[in-house]
Amino acid sequence: MVKICCIGAGYVGGPTMAVIALKCPSIEVAVVDISAPRIAAWNSDQLPIYEPGIDEIVKQCRGKNLFFSTAVEKHVSEADIIFVSVNTPTKTQGLGAGKAADLTYWESAARMIADVSKSNKIVVEKSTVPVKTAEAIEKILTHNSKGIKYQILSNPEFLAEGTAIEDLFSPDRVLIGGRETPDGQKATQALKEVYAHWVPEDRIIITNLWSAELSKLAANAFLAQRISSVNAMSALCEATGANISEVAHAVGKDTRIGPKFLNASVGFGGSCFQKDILNLVYICECNGLTEVANYWKQVIKVNDYQKNRFVNRVVSSMFNTVSGKKIAILGFAFKKDTGDTRETPAIDVCKGLLGDKAQLSIYDLQVTEDQIRRELSMKKFDWDHPIHLQLMSPAAVKEVSVVWDAYEATNGAHGICILTEWDEFKTLDYKKIFDNMQKPAFLFDGRNVVDVEKLREIGFIVYSIGKPLDAWLKDMPAMA
Ligand SMILES: NC(=O)c1ccc[n+]([C@@H]2O[C@H](COP(=O)([O-])OP(=O)(O)OC[C@H]3O[C@@H](n4cnc5c(N)ncnc54)[C@H](O)[C@@H]3O)[C@@H](O)[C@H]2O)c1
Repeated sequence: MVKICCIGAGYVGGPTMAVIALKCPSIEVAVVDISAPRIAAWNSDQLPIYEPGIDEIVKQCRGKNLFFSTAVEKHVSEADIIFVSVNTPTKTQGLGAGKAADLTYWESAARMIADVSKSNKIVVEKSTVPVKTAEAIEKILTHNSKGIKYQILSNPEFLAEGTAIEDLFSPDRVLIGGRETPDGQKATQALKEVYAHWVPEDRIIITNLWSAELSKLAANAFLAQRISSVNAMSALCEATGANISEVAHAVGKDTRIGPKFLNASVGFGGSCFQKDILNLVYICECNGLTEVANYWKQVIKVNDYQKNRFVNRVVSSMFNTVSGKKIAILGFAFKKDTGDTRETPAIDVCKGLLGDKAQLSIYDLQVTEDQIRRELSMKKFDWDHPIHLQLMSPAAVKEVSVVWDAYEATNGAHGICILTEWDEFKTLDYKKIFDNMQKPAFLFDGRNVVDVEKLREIGFIVYSIGKPLDAWLKDMPAMA
């Protein structure tokens, strides 16, 4: 029986391995992690991540050919194929701080593999890593090899949170990069056979190692760039009276461009886009490609601009101050159908409003109070480390309350900010909400989920990103 071990039981390691176990009953899959609470949660009825469809798969496979364990060394030493899916945060100190990827967790995983291995291994980079990481990992492994042979493969993950299971069931592509030597090709073939259990052959792309590593960074940079492009247009729409939904629809009809990923919003978030672009920028700079680096940097700058613009719009519309005013925050996760809050634009928007002394009442369908408070008290980039290394008792921000109901959050509020596109926010009883708010009642839709005209009829002053402004907002232009 082929044995797979995955180091890192996170948003990638958990779902990816669960799907491999489901689709490959002949393979034994162990997912290991240094975080005991995370492993305990994977072994319980309350899984550590919210992802549609994951519960059923884990229930079906757990204890049969899918195991979650903290016995990292045991499972690594027994495995034929080892996936490494640990955190690769942005460095906060030293050379490349604020841009370069911090490979501490990756390196310690590689050293541990070298320490405990007694047989040949295929080591698969599942984490997103800088191009050329495989070379460094290879050096660590082979310098400590005791005669054991290692083949390093790059197999970046393209799943999107919220649709991870769908994405894993029918991926657009599976990318495998390996050495172009006979042993490298053998390893590539072995990994390809795992995916071939359910992925059609023409969707499995084989490349060299560096192309695979770089393709992941490039794909995320292109995706984020698309969001920044439409968001940049949304600012121009507001200035000119054009409507971003109409513009995006017209643009997306061009088959060369396509309709997906053209929704204007308060900005992109999630654990990957910003981190991976910064990493790309750093690699460009290290290679002397300043213009290329500056080009990609701009994608992040526009994202920051969009979040700032949103906060400025809220404050300026509400008579230039939100001091002491209750603002309801609907949605904190970085997108719908996930409880993930890493780099969510809600953090910067909330911090911006708190900076103007607002009282926030936050409601999200999947995010806990502890998680929200942790995010609001964490420093930039500190979030992407194993949870047991993070601040355990976040300082309570007294201007923030977290509630479990949209009506409670909005009760008595001066304004509402919609920051996640949860379906529930489309169907709330906005008449009831309006009746219970201070007047004038403001609604700032950062995800374009509400029916603007209907809400204006109810009496709301509505701001919806990239949509024609109502008279009130025109009179109170937001400073950029
Ligand atoms: N989240 C996504 O949507 C996504 C998509 C594609 C790629 N990625 C990449 O995949 C990687 C993992 O991301 P994630 O979202 O799953 O992160 P995560 O924080 O959810 O999970 C990483 C896990 O690794 C564990 N870990 C760290 N060092 C370890 C070690 N030495 N031994 C054992 N366990 C260790 C941590 O405790 C944590 O549970 C990152 O490089 C990320 O960029 C993420």
